[in-house]
Amino acid sequence: MAEQAAPATAREWHLAARPQGWPVSTDFALVEAPVRTPGPGEILVRNTHLSVDPYMRGRMNDVKSYVPPFRLGAAMDGGAVGYVVASEAEGFAPGDAVLHGLGWREYATLDAGHAVKVDPQAAPLSAYLGVLGMPGLTAYAGLLAVGGLKEGDKVFVSGAAGAVGSLVGQIARLKGASLVVGSAGSAEKVAKLVDEYGFDAAFNYKDAPVAEQLAKAAPEGIDLYFDNVGGDHLEAAIGALGVHGRAVLCGAIAQYNSTTAPAAPRNLAMAIGKRLRLEGMLVRDHAALQPQFVAEVAGWLKSGELRTEETVVDGFENAAEAFIDLLRGVNTGKMVVRLDD
Ligand SMILES: NC(=O)c1ccc[n+]([C@@H]2O[C@H](COP(=O)([O-])OP(=O)(O)OC[C@H]3O[C@@H](n4cnc5c(N)ncnc54)[C@H](OP(=O)(O)O)[C@@H]3O)[C@@H](O)[C@H]2O)c1
Repeated sequence: MAEQAAPATAREWHLAARPQGWPVSTDFALVEAPVRTPGPGEILVRNTHLSVDPYMRGRMNDVKSYVPPFRLGAAMDGGAVGYVVASEAEGFAPGDAVLHGLGWREYATLDAGHAVKVDPQAAPLSAYLGVLGMPGLTAYAGLLAVGGLKEGDKVFVSGAAGAVGSLVGQIARLKGASLVVGSAGSAEKVAKLVDEYGFDAAFNYKDAPVAEQLAKAAPEGIDLYFDNVGGDHLEAAIGALGVHGRAVLCGAIAQYNSTTAPAAPRNLAMAIGKRLRLEGMLVRDHAALQPQFVAEVAGWLKSGELRTEETVVDGFENAAEAFIDLLRGVNTGKMVVRLDD
């Protein structure tokens, strides 16, 4: 596609303050900044879609973690897709679609080595932020490589209507799980899991204690738990897992905005007698699975066996609110921000 010249300045989102507890809009600032002309080896990209992801909440805190914190008063970053506008890098030309890590801004100038070309004909660009991107690989690698899903496994996934969770449940079913149970935060999401995504059972974790609802949905217990939430969900799963059960510790969103230590799980000692394996995971350790993941997931998408959904927020100026809404559970499937054309 033909690309027009970039403007002299464009908008970017800065971290204005570090949140205490839940983030608020004043923790973010919309700033007009110069658009830098690419130097040797660099490309200039006009972003079309930005990703907002739960891990970004951790980056708003000034703590050492597996990704460095956002800097106060500086542009934030994160997954984005867009079109190359100018290139000083071999192999990249204006009009190429790319996935890269300089989101939270309208235009990004970056080392081409940090961008991956993607095919806008094969899938809508935003899919490379979701089902064909980081959340998709998280679900695939977490379930298969870390969780060691086996045919016949009874599987429970929390955050089941979100980007990662909705794929976990469906991939488990496609790979022969005998029972797939999901939890989510609204009646609409629960209905969707069963009616559209093929979960055997689902419940709203806000309705009654998780352990109680899980026991009803999986009366014979579970073999594998994919944890996106932590806290009472993890405690319930530890209780429901059978001997040699496995839990993939992918996320703990219930505590991301909490200012106090989590009250659960209180039953970790059960892991001893049941010989449970609780294993943390980071998607970045599983890059080697990328080709297998793309081939298999693209096949399921083409055949219609895998359903995906996006919650699209329009307008760059709404990105901070979209991020806060993600933490509140406003999204079903992947939350993305679509920039004005
Ligand atoms: N380890 C890794 O490499 C890796 C990579 C990607 C993602 N993750 C983790 O995976 C999880 C899901 O990420 P995602 O990108 O797919 O996000 P997502 O599930 O699409 O969105 C977050 C969802 O979390 C739910 N939520 C918010 N507060 C909650 C609470 N207190 N208890 C239960 N659910 C709550 C909300 O849905 P409800 O309406 O259902 O509450 C919300 O829609 C996150 O924990 C994330 O940090 C880890």
